[in-house]
Amino acid sequence: MKRREFLTAGCAAILAPQLSWAATPLELIAQSVSAQILPGGSPKTAMWGYNGTTPGPELRLPQGGFLDVRFLNQIDQGSAVHWHGLRADNAMDGVPGLTQDVVPSGDAFTYRFRAPDAGTFWYHSHNRSWEQVAKGLYGPLIVEETNPPDVDHDITVLIDDWRMSDTGVLAADFDSPHDQAHAGRLGNFARAIITTEGAVRTGDRLRLRLINVATDRVFPIDLTGIQGKLVALDGMPLAEPQDIADLVLAPAQRADIIADVTSPQGVQFVFPTRDGPYVMGEISSTGTNNHRVASIIPPLPANRVAQPDLDNALALTLTMDGGAMSPRNTLTDIWGLNGQSGLTDIPFHSFKRGQTARITLVNNTRFPHGIHLHGHHFFEVEADGNPAAFRDTTLVDAGDTRDILCVFDNPGKWLLHCHMLGHQAAGMKTWLEVA
Ligand code: C2O
Ligand code: CU
Repeated sequence: MKRREFLTAGCAAILAPQLSWAATPLELIAQSVSAQILPGGSPKTAMWGYNGTTPGPELRLPQGGFLDVRFLNQIDQGSAVHWHGLRADNAMDGVPGLTQDVVPSGDAFTYRFRAPDAGTFWYHSHNRSWEQVAKGLYGPLIVEETNPPDVDHDITVLIDDWRMSDTGVLAADFDSPHDQAHAGRLGNFARAIITTEGAVRTGDRLRLRLINVATDRVFPIDLTGIQGKLVALDGMPLAEPQDIADLVLAPAQRADIIADVTSPQGVQFVFPTRDGPYVMGEISSTGTNNHRVASIIPPLPANRVAQPDLDNALALTLTMDGGAMSPRNTLTDIWGLNGQSGLTDIPFHSFKRGQTARITLVNNTRFPHGIHLHGHHFFEVEADGNPAAFRDTTLVDAGDTRDILCVFDNPGKWLLHCHMLGHQAAGMKTWLEVA
């Protein structure tokens, strides 16, 4: 972590508006906004956002429903919106140069697609994302279960960090090659943006939807004041709820937690830094819920998932190279995948629709990378060879290797990249095709 200390915030919750699913098309306008990033009373920050706020509005729709969004670009750069984690139609994936043309400043684009999976997702800019996401172009996207779990509050918690001055001016060094060659753009101020109004009661059951929206920072997170289970990762339900210990979210990763409030002090989201615990946000508690009977936490209803064909899985390798303190090899940029920086005409692989592949991700660098596949989820393979969590982004530590298993059943051209956005900017991306 950068030596500069985090500014300390009092109550670190800022409210984001919520938009419920409506049948009429929704307008999502990327524009300049003024946001209270530093604690209230401190100066506001000039940012970008959607519909007047950063984070943008929380979009909610029922599982199987359609999202119908008219995107208007009113910032002074081209942009596009990516619906992170949604196994949706390729033409709606929002990747300029691969699935659509960039939407120029002043222009518009209509996104319309079905949301096949219930869960916690998010949307964000996918053009100059290392700058546009750092400036605030993101928001939560929640797909509701037909039979949602019985909770008293459903709360979204966006974890972010910003690099800014004490007077709230965002540092403009988005393209810093030094950052890109190291751990990316790390902020000096972090906070949990909590979409709930008011307090909870001791004894209330909460569903917490944590999303790491930071461009580059991996956040370990400790939760205090609750007792419960981890029920989903990257939007996908775990077959069995797990203990919450050692929760780590790489950029773009999500965790759903169902837990009961056990402390009259409320709930705290704590970032354990080398300088000690830093409270990123809290939900206050008043009163007691005497009606709820403590009960076990059942798994969330499963989404439809194609089972991998282990016997006929195609074996592939994706090696991460480059970065500071690494031999540069023949890379044309700072980072590369399989010796190649950035996108070319040649895909990493062309899959036949329905093909299972086992991809060995080799991190041959001195930094961790969070590798994200568009349009699909994949199983992280455990040391015993069994498929475990079903995710869209996997964190591979420096020098480590991880196998993932994926059924490539969504046709189209899909990006595969590091979600440390400064690494993506500097070459750590490729694409694949499913036909
Ligand atoms: Cu969250 Cu390529 O995206
Ligand atoms: Cu990376």
